[in-house]
Amino acid sequence: MADEILQTHKLLDRCEKALAERFTVHKLHEAADKDALIAELAPRLRAIAGGNVNAGLMDKLPKLEMIANFGVGYDSIDTKAAKTRGIRVTNTPNVLNDAMAEITVGLMIALARKIPQSDRFVRDGKWLKGSYPLQVELNAKTVGILGLGRIGKEIAVRLQAMKMRVVYHGRSRQPDEPYIYYDNLADMARDVDWLVLIAPGGKATEKIVNRQVLEALGPEGYLVNMGRGTLVDEPVLVEMLQQGKIGGAALDVFENEPTVPEALFGLDNVVLSPHQGSATHQTRNKMGDLVVANLVAHFAGEPLISAVV
Ligand code: GLV
Repeated sequence: MADEILQTHKLLDRCEKALAERFTVHKLHEAADKDALIAELAPRLRAIAGGNVNAGLMDKLPKLEMIANFGVGYDSIDTKAAKTRGIRVTNTPNVLNDAMAEITVGLMIALARKIPQSDRFVRDGKWLKGSYPLQVELNAKTVGILGLGRIGKEIAVRLQAMKMRVVYHGRSRQPDEPYIYYDNLADMARDVDWLVLIAPGGKATEKIVNRQVLEALGPEGYLVNMGRGTLVDEPVLVEMLQQGKIGGAALDVFENEPTVPEALFGLDNVVLSPHQGSATHQTRNKMGDLVVANLVAHFAGEPLISAVV
């Protein structure tokens, strides 16, 4: 009899197939009666594949030993509750660093050079009537990175290749990094042309980019959010973009995604992206493989590959 796992949301076909080859998979998101499924599994369920796990669900599954999250960010799992219950949590780090860094640079260039708008300009036949307006460049500008973790460092390397000056803010200074550290986010925002957010979500960073930080970034400043929508006070950001108090924004993540504030749709100084930082075949397959490998390691009694709790 294969070990049983509970899957909490849709995963890639390849990942679901790999899970089904090794485990008996119960799909919570497809269950007509979720409570009944949880109650039925409670006496024996040892592992979950996927996120969206709160303390209430953990309490209903007293035999739960581990949660294998699909994604590097695990803010949809109550890790504090997991820790106190002795439940391990894994994520999918590293394998997505390059994809995330690539699209960050892509969105920055798209925002600076207004690439989405220029595409529409050609399609709409407007080029026949005149030239496209001049735009701005990245080189010689300063970029501040909020969250110089594994992805942040890959972004920094690429932005240096763009001839940008890189500085950063985070919980602590990283003495081995060559970039200037700011211990205050608003101070950094005041000094930079671009502010790139790639910090984790969750309570500790909620609305860390508040009105004060956005005002410091100012009408010539550009915001890029690749982390989580919760990092930013979104209504304030929308208001300031509408009023031209922030130069522009490239946003891959939103507070209530996939719902995006409609007020952003009409703004020319914004590039919108559907939370696709890691969304390539190459990377998502590797993320799925890591979910499976962590579960397999757990059931084999081997060390977890990427545990966060
Ligand atoms: C994506 O947002 C992730 O956390 O991997």
